[in-house]
Amino acid sequence: RAIYLKDYQVPTYQIEQTELRFDLSSEATRVRARLCVQRDDTTSVSEPLVLDGEALTLISVAIDGRPLDAAEYDADEHSLTLHAVPDRFWLETEVEIAPASNTALEGLYQSNGMFCTQCEPEGFRRITFYPDRPDVMSRFTTTVIGDRTTLPVLLSNGNPIDQCVIDDARHYVTWEDPHPKPAYLFALVAGNLEKREDHFTTASGRDVLLQLWVETQNLNKTEFAMNALKRSMRWDEERFGREYDLDRFMIVAVDDFNMGAMENKGLNIFNSSAVLANPETTVDMMFQRIEGIVAHEYFHNWSGNRVTCRDWFQLALKEGFTVFRDQLFSSDVNSAPVKRIEDVALLRTAQFAEDSGPTAHPVRPDHFIEITNFYTLTVYEKGAEVVRMLRNLLGWEQFRQGSDLYFDRFDGQAVRVEDFIDCMAEVSGQDLTRFMLWYAQAGTPEVTATSAYDADARCLTLSLSQRTPPTPGQTEKEPLQIPVAMGLVGADGKDLPLIMNGESLGTSTVLVMTDAEHRFVFENLDAAPVPSLLRGFSAPVKLHHALSDEQLAFLMRHDSDGFNRWDAGQQLALSELERLMAAWHADEPLVVGDRLIDTMRALITEPADDKAVLAEMLRLPSEAFIAEQQAEVHIDAIHHARRAATRALGEALYDEFAALYDRERSDAPYSPHFEQIAQRSLKNVALGYLCATGRPDALALAQAQFDDNANMTDVRAALTQLAHADDTALGEPAVRAFGERWAHDPLVMDQWFATQVSRPQPDALERVRFLMGHEAFSIKNPNRVRALIGTFVNQNLVNFHREDGQGYRLLADVVIELNRLNPDIAARMVLPLTRFRRLDPVRRAAMRGELERIRGESLSRSVFEVVEKALAD
Ligand code: ARG
Ligand code: ZN
Repeated sequence: RAIYLKDYQVPTYQIEQTELRFDLSSEATRVRARLCVQRDDTTSVSEPLVLDGEALTLISVAIDGRPLDAAEYDADEHSLTLHAVPDRFWLETEVEIAPASNTALEGLYQSNGMFCTQCEPEGFRRITFYPDRPDVMSRFTTTVIGDRTTLPVLLSNGNPIDQCVIDDARHYVTWEDPHPKPAYLFALVAGNLEKREDHFTTASGRDVLLQLWVETQNLNKTEFAMNALKRSMRWDEERFGREYDLDRFMIVAVDDFNMGAMENKGLNIFNSSAVLANPETTVDMMFQRIEGIVAHEYFHNWSGNRVTCRDWFQLALKEGFTVFRDQLFSSDVNSAPVKRIEDVALLRTAQFAEDSGPTAHPVRPDHFIEITNFYTLTVYEKGAEVVRMLRNLLGWEQFRQGSDLYFDRFDGQAVRVEDFIDCMAEVSGQDLTRFMLWYAQAGTPEVTATSAYDADARCLTLSLSQRTPPTPGQTEKEPLQIPVAMGLVGADGKDLPLIMNGESLGTSTVLVMTDAEHRFVFENLDAAPVPSLLRGFSAPVKLHHALSDEQLAFLMRHDSDGFNRWDAGQQLALSELERLMAAWHADEPLVVGDRLIDTMRALITEPADDKAVLAEMLRLPSEAFIAEQQAEVHIDAIHHARRAATRALGEALYDEFAALYDRERSDAPYSPHFEQIAQRSLKNVALGYLCATGRPDALALAQAQFDDNANMTDVRAALTQLAHADDTALGEPAVRAFGERWAHDPLVMDQWFATQVSRPQPDALERVRFLMGHEAFSIKNPNRVRALIGTFVNQNLVNFHREDGQGYRLLADVVIELNRLNPDIAARMVLPLTRFRRLDPVRRAAMRGELERIRGESLSRSVFEVVEKALAD
């Protein structure tokens, strides 16, 4: 049942022209498709034409106007086969579909009455019979017929070329997209929508009409995304030389959506949570996430749409490159080191966990059962790291030349990862053969570094070795090409000049590993420096570099690389937390050492050049990150050690944190500008430490901040402190007030759910079960499921991993229900149940037991694939 990359075959037929006509109705939408089919002249005449189709009721088939009788074709569950067809002809089919009962949210479905589509990767086959593969590119013309009162707005890709009222009840609009595209980029939207409109003038002076379509009540949440869109369009011109290519660009916000958003040509469709924002309802982090997603989808217009993927194994070709582009954009318009810190934190927790579990796969997988299971952190985030490494190896100038060559050479084509890499090799003259292994080998490489200083020879020898642990199906791994950005920090805290073989390399360089072991000798050093390695996290590896706590504290204060300063602090905190975890196991008191307290004190009291970085440095490593560092994971030890450390820091530095809180308060009107975000972030970190002490004056500060109601970021930070306080009754009034105030806004209610189910108190699981019955919750809406169940499972580790297995049971119940409703979401939600490798035997058995229970159901392909892999582990 698996599909293999090595079995790829060129399509036998191309579709020159695609003419669609939708007659919309909730239960019985009619879709008529006229396809101009052309046989590939290299293939033999006898090959039948096979079209994909899922859950379609076939009404009629005709070739060049002649209706076919039943003997001339075969229709089964997944396809329509025409046995003998001419070289070139018009194929006409009509099918019926039921959007209202489409709970999988793939193909054409309804969300709050609005019709919308999600076609990537294989949703188009749920709309009509079609060669649903990205290497079939066609010009689309789409007529949408709908009710005049309930569906006044009818949208599709490209430009409107015709529209008319049909009768009292119905009207239609016809859209034409001049750019040939694969079916996965098709989109249709119909509903009672309102728009925010704007304009953008491209670098070459063309005017582009920008529209953001939403339900009426959301119009006051559209300004930020519209501005983010304009920033993205300008940025892509300036940084990558990419201009927009249609007369209009539309974004639509949809409440029921499986992912963040979708880059359909000229008509991006967004999960409402990934586009709607205003200060009263949206926290700072979401503003930044929205900016990144708007940019991401817009950037796909070139990296994905103009140049697309030959087949779905190449997914990282467009996703890895586009994530790298959106990361670069966010770091250009906000605090660059903080953007890097956030991205690396995600990679090192969630992606590394994927790499070390049963669903580990390469950035370019070589087989799959269900492609929707491969929209993963590995394809997206590690895929972006691989592109970033190319930038690190080539430098920006050559990387940009490679990018220009790629867009130029492959414009309008469906291509492979090799094509991208070849462009980079060509412009740089570098041999990137070994680099290609990054796409083929799964697992996180481990790099071990040791250094030895020779006082007589005045040199430092740095030894680097690499090894990638085995992953399912890949036991043998080869050495990869790894760029290690580094510098040597002298006693005065400044970077020393790097001299190797008599050659000067400046104060910071990129060492390139290609073998299992390397030695680099740096000359002309008067004393032993502290090596600062993997600056900016120049490669997605686990670095083992045994530095003492002193050296870490030194780098934390002095490293010229903001990311490495933060990382040194995290390592230092981690070593303290590991001491506390050992004490917890030994049943000893958890006493926090002075070094951590003193370095934190210094951070708070010394003037900070970057407040955003400082806020990140004051945060202890997350439970998930700590867990990822342990050979055997003891959730309770991690949780109690981290909680004890937070409280101890709050106690020891109470006055400092109180002063910091005061210092960073501001009455300035809210702006999502990064400098203001940094200030709020710093202030709310301080509030967290203060409240961790449980002191009444600290909780009174939180209550005052909640009552002050300045913006959602501050309200939510305060609510979290109140709702997570040891005294469980303390937050109840605030929780109730918040729930009543925002009952009308689902995106705020998601935050209300998340805040409650992430509380560390032992009643959290019962709270989840209770809230699943709340009227604002619906298991059919992916945002609600993620907010309530996803938050509990991923951000409340002590309660999810309860020893009695009730957390696992709850998740399995949800997965079983979702398996029938929405397989894509079910297969995502089940993943935490598959990460049992490093847990204790009791929990391991409990998780496997729940997976067995899930396997007893009649499973969708997506859930089946994940559960099988996990149980084989
Ligand atoms: N291409 C979209 C994006 O990255 C994601 C679409 C994912 N669809 C899915 N069914 N998994 O922006
Ligand atoms: Zn994408």
